[in-house]
Amino acid sequence: MRNADAHGGSDDERVVKSPTIRTVTPDDLEAVNDIYNHYVRTSHATFDLEPLTAERRRVWLDEHDPHRHPILVAARDERIVGYASAGRFRARPGYDTTVETSVYVDEAASGTGVGTSLYAALFDALAGRGLHRAVAGIALPNDASIALHLRAGFRQVAHFTEQGWKFRTLLGRRVVRTLAHLTGPIRGISLVNLQLLRHTKRRRSACEHSR
Ligand SMILES: CC(C)(COP(=O)(O)OP(=O)(O)OC[C@H]1O[C@@H](n2cnc3c(N)ncnc32)[C@H](O)[C@@H]1OP(=O)(O)O)[C@@H](O)C(=O)NCCC(=O)NCCS
Repeated sequence: MRNADAHGGSDDERVVKSPTIRTVTPDDLEAVNDIYNHYVRTSHATFDLEPLTAERRRVWLDEHDPHRHPILVAARDERIVGYASAGRFRARPGYDTTVETSVYVDEAASGTGVGTSLYAALFDALAGRGLHRAVAGIALPNDASIALHLRAGFRQVAHFTEQGWKFRTLLGRRVVRTLAHLTGPIRGISLVNLQLLRHTKRRRSACEHSR
């Protein structure tokens, strides 16, 4: 199954329409939460351990300033099939030029170009907002997410091990043991800024240590 527009091919039996991408509205929240909570219950894509309530999801929407931290949804035939968001990386104001991005696609629509379309639109929306870095953390294994982020211009900068804990007894060897942190600028990549990021991190942990 392919998305003819996203991947440029139409030779498979079933060609899937490109989704319509638009800004989230409160009416979308139930569908957004259903998509997310499916992954809470079934995968290590998120380290939430319990499904989010409708109330918590409304708070999440309110926490995103639409002028700085957009949330986009993808719809096919008026059904929400995925969403992508950019949020604060850290609460301290010195991090305000960095966003953390996130994307979830309805499992039934995955692999059909929805994530790619959402991220393309998200990074278009982020341009010109005075931002410098986008960061994403991916619990491994997650081949689809790695492919999506590399395609969107992210590069791996760190590999955290044993950082999360989920499905200890249920999934056994599928428990996440490692986290890869990917980072990339809004456009392109710069070694100078990578060093700055590391420098900032060192200084921050030194500060925390001294408290
Ligand atoms: C990760 C996710 C957002 C990708 O969205 P998607 O709509 O399925 O992805 P697309 O169809 O746009 O494909 C994006 C890339 O992933 C690859 N891909 C898609 N599904 C894949 C799979 N199951 N295995 C390996 N690669 C896969 C595609 O080939 C494409 O790579 P390319 O650009 O090099 O051709 C989606 O699978 C998802 O929601 N997964 C669960 C939640 C999650 O992991 N979110 C990310 C948290 S960090």
